[in-house]
Amino acid sequence: MKPSAPPKTFRVKSFGCQMNVYDGERMAELLGEQGITPAPEGEEADLVILNTCHIREKAAEKVYSDIGRLVKAGEEAGKKPLIAVAGCVAQAEGEEIMARAPAVSIVVGPQAYHRLPAMLETATQGGRATDSDMPAIAKFDALPQRRKRAPAAFLTVQEGCDKFCTYCVVPYTRGAEISRPFKHLIAEAEKLVEAGAREITLLGQNVNAWTGEDDKGRAVGLDGLIRALAKLPDLQRIRYTTSHPNDFTPGLIAAHGEVDKLMPYLHLPVQSGNNRILKAMNRQHTAEDYLRILEQVRAARPDIALSGDFIVGFPGETEAEFADTLSIVDEVRYAACFSFKYSPRPGTPAATMDGQIAAEVMDARLQRLQQRIAHHQFAFNQASVGKTCTILVERTGRHPGQWLGKSPWLQSVWFEGEGAIGDLVEVELAEAGPNSLKGLVRHRATV
Ligand code: SAH
Ligand code: SF4
Ligand code: F3S
Repeated sequence: MKPSAPPKTFRVKSFGCQMNVYDGERMAELLGEQGITPAPEGEEADLVILNTCHIREKAAEKVYSDIGRLVKAGEEAGKKPLIAVAGCVAQAEGEEIMARAPAVSIVVGPQAYHRLPAMLETATQGGRATDSDMPAIAKFDALPQRRKRAPAAFLTVQEGCDKFCTYCVVPYTRGAEISRPFKHLIAEAEKLVEAGAREITLLGQNVNAWTGEDDKGRAVGLDGLIRALAKLPDLQRIRYTTSHPNDFTPGLIAAHGEVDKLMPYLHLPVQSGNNRILKAMNRQHTAEDYLRILEQVRAARPDIALSGDFIVGFPGETEAEFADTLSIVDEVRYAACFSFKYSPRPGTPAATMDGQIAAEVMDARLQRLQQRIAHHQFAFNQASVGKTCTILVERTGRHPGQWLGKSPWLQSVWFEGEGAIGDLVEVELAEAGPNSLKGLVRHRATV
């Protein structure tokens, strides 16, 4: 490729989970430090980072169509953007991307993006750069301080996965489980709060596998970190995601009953309600183990909103086994859920298992499951009507004077009246829809 002028503007497009979004924010901060600024809305950027996700086939294929679109838009605008592919597809298929997409100058894995500045230099000199090393802690040490300003912020505390569910690419794209050190996390949280964060969501592929040593040298788990963060005076809300049933501790369950700032919401995926399928998935827990944890969390925090992830059409799943998934959804009465059709991923054991399920069968099962989930979500929202709660305002609504925020139970709530992003507003939940609620302002507190 020909040498090009150093980029002045950038755009990061994140396609994956919240940790992928967090990585996208950190890359943006890193570029900001290099004097590269976000491209204005509607303008082609000099540098585009496609921050990709490999979890399902559709997500992974998107990267190639996006590259094609970028090249075309560049041609139309008479310029050639530098294209970088980051994230989990970059980790899993770096070489293939370089071979298949000559327009790409940089391929950088999710644990190596702190080296972007050096890679950019190679790219502007007309070279191509690939980095898929996995020194996860080194990345965090090398990144600049947080600059992001938002009322609700993400903070990655744990990365990687050692669980090897038979359908999943994450252990390959993100590497082994590591925990970031306690004091780095407290420092990053303090920066986020100073910059205006009122809510922090602690992130990890298995966030409750986090362990560390607190400021007194005691070994602590995620509950210890949550208790320490709750002492930051201006931090009002703490959430965490995604947790794994096998890493749930009595301490974390107790924290749900004892730490006021820990929001009454738990995302705990189970994937299937059937024990034979769970075994084939290598989940290493049964449906009963899972239900027992939820029962204990509900005992500690009776108003907790529960959420989960489900996969339909895992290889060999029979109609009766799928029916167990519908039953567990009815039994738990989730406030929200994510559900997916099984997608065979290259290199995972399930991709070559017998009994792959036909697409039409998966479609029909997903539809039935989503109907059940929607039913319970609406019922949960309806049961919230009449409650008074605090909303953290995150955005303006569609019409002037409308504001949007989240309830403690992570429901989207809108209200009318005076407001500002970052306000904590006390509302009465007055009307429920399937996906959001209307609130009536009772009290407005600016913090
Ligand atoms: N670590 C988390 C989830 C990470 S991936 C956990 O174990 O719970 C997010 C979700 O994507 C998973 O919970 C699962 O429901 C879904 N998923 C992962 N691999 C998938 C695949 N091959 N096909 C369909 N869905 C998948
Ligand atoms: Fe994937 Fe299973 Fe690890 Fe979750 S626990 S990231 S589903 S391998
Ligand atoms: Fe996707 Fe990677 Fe997250 S595969 S779900 S971006 S960990």
